Amino acid sequence: MAGNFFIFWLVLIGFLVVILGSFAFAGILAAPWVPLWKKDVRRMLELAGVKEGETVFDLGAGDGRIVIMAAKEFGAKSVGFEIAFLPYFLAYIKIILSGKKKNINLRFKNFYHQDFSQADVICTFLSPQAMLKLKPKLQTETKPGCRIISYVFKIPDWQPTKIDKPNQNQAAIYLYQR
Ligand SMILES: C[S@@+](CC[C@H](N)C(=O)[O-])C[C@H]1O[C@@H](n2cnc3c(N)ncnc32)[C@H](O)[C@@H]1O
Repeated sequence: MAGNFFIFWLVLIGFLVVILGSFAFAGILAAPWVPLWKKDVRRMLELAGVKEGETVFDLGAGDGRIVIMAAKEFGAKSVGFEIAFLPYFLAYIKIILSGKKKNINLRFKNFYHQDFSQADVICTFLSPQAMLKLKPKLQTETKPGCRIISYVFKIPDWQPTKIDKPNQNQAAIYLYQR
């Protein structure tokens, strides 16, 4: 009996360590999980001018709200990359429930190891350090015409094509066109 109890706690603690560890790891790599408001997701996709059939990448997909809206409301083929277990799991469930699973590819993958050449649109909501680290990949791997949308944080030294900031209370979203 005491042995079973010990194993239960051991498994529970191990589980929590893995979940919290993956959160911390993602925070160190690029940004912790901070979900966007739905209206801001729509602002991002509208600013990018996402068209039916285009491929939209979300670097750090969180609970999948960008990839789901891109597929459902804009007719895109979405690809989300996520490295933390809990948001990945939530996104997986939400994608199944969205009824758009065939148009959404959710990958448990570090996006720094992903080639960006297939993307028409790349969405980011990442730390300034991550934007700096991503810059060479965005510069060399994206195809001509690719749009990069960044929530709040700019790509260092790049000139945005457009900035969406409707008023003082709303966060800036930056559009870069390659
Ligand atoms: C600020 S959140 C953005 C969430 C989502 N895009 C949204 O708009 O709601 C950043 C996400 O990136 C994930 N992340 C951080 N570094 C990553 C990496 N190298 N590869 C994949 N995902 C990463 C985090 O786990 C977190 O869920």
